[in-house]
Amino acid sequence: MSVIKVAILGFGTVGEGFYRTIQSHAEELTAVLGKKVEVAAILIKNQKKKREISKDVLVTTDFADILNLPQLDVVVEAIVDKDPTYIYLKKAIERGCHIITANKEMFAHYGTELLELAQAHHVSVGYEATVAGGIPVIQTLRQLLNVNRVQQVQGILNGTSNFILTEMREKKLSFAQALRTAQENGFAEADPTNDVEGFDAFYKAMILSRLAFGEEPNWHAVERTGITSITSELIDTADRLGLRFKHIASIKKSVNQLKVSVGPVLVGNEHPLYHVEGVQNAVNIFSDIVGQITLQGPGAGMLPTASAVIEDLVYVCQNRPERQGFTTTSEINSGRQEQGEIEETWLIAGYYNVTNHSVQLIDQVTDGIWIAKAKREEIDALSKLNEELVYFPVIGEYEREHVLAR
Ligand code: HSE
Repeated sequence: MSVIKVAILGFGTVGEGFYRTIQSHAEELTAVLGKKVEVAAILIKNQKKKREISKDVLVTTDFADILNLPQLDVVVEAIVDKDPTYIYLKKAIERGCHIITANKEMFAHYGTELLELAQAHHVSVGYEATVAGGIPVIQTLRQLLNVNRVQQVQGILNGTSNFILTEMREKKLSFAQALRTAQENGFAEADPTNDVEGFDAFYKAMILSRLAFGEEPNWHAVERTGITSITSELIDTADRLGLRFKHIASIKKSVNQLKVSVGPVLVGNEHPLYHVEGVQNAVNIFSDIVGQITLQGPGAGMLPTASAVIEDLVYVCQNRPERQGFTTTSEINSGRQEQGEIEETWLIAGYYNVTNHSVQLIDQVTDGIWIAKAKREEIDALSKLNEELVYFPVIGEYEREHVLAR
């Protein structure tokens, strides 16, 4: 039986999870691929660290050793940094290898170049593990929604943030305690700033944007915030109002313009994202034929991410051609209102005399917390006058009775 030779770059949570899964699911892989999968080499950083790796595998700190292997079919990359990782993958493609990556920051920066290079070299790129952990959202958009015109993608894309928000609400943990637990569970990035300040979700949103809409917004124009401004008091108040804080990335095309935002949103209990708790991620896809689809599952962790990588292994070994030129949705949305023109519900918190402004207050929850109806531009104008003010959009049903019943 012929053999597929794989190299793994990085042996952290993702690399190790994939290595173990290749062993635990060897039979299934052979049955699907008709070939045996063998790990030929692993690239590591620290030679002194103890690892459980078979003696038959070349363990090296030098990428050149991997590139020089006599047979190499697939390179699986699970390193954190974007450089020199991009160069490694470029070299692997040029050598004729399929590549698989779990590195969202790298893929957000260099994905287009890698996909083009792969197309030129007739190899495939798997990047399922870059977005939403174990949820097969990339393959859903890539292979199963080819004719549908996607109008909006909205998702909880950072497991660590969702985990922290859930722990703070359910167990009354402090932000720092909840973050520590997320780190202990292997959910958080090496530098958790990426998680809690929204960078990780931002990179994932850029990858989804390219896939769903064939383009991405100007990165500097995207409003990106994390969860660090959300206090236990705000979480409790939201809870009393029947709302939950979720960190949501939203990508939408209206009047030929891509609108992307990444930040905390208050979600009403009829919205599909309301019940997504802990390290779970979820992605809502709105498209013209099927309507709304919600995919939900574990967004981080060793085995969920290994699941995404191992399924990519099957995908790349079947070598589907890289698809360029995605469907554009500009024509179908051209009659729709600009997002800024629509009045939305907002929770506004801070000590400020909001009565002087055009923002229509509908409830005062406490001394410093109001519910208002306003257009985005009105909220922006209000926040310019007081930088201390924090404000969150409310999606899903907001039930006024929760306040009145207090
Ligand atoms: N730190 C990431 C998260 C890992 O918490 O979602 C998965 O990408």
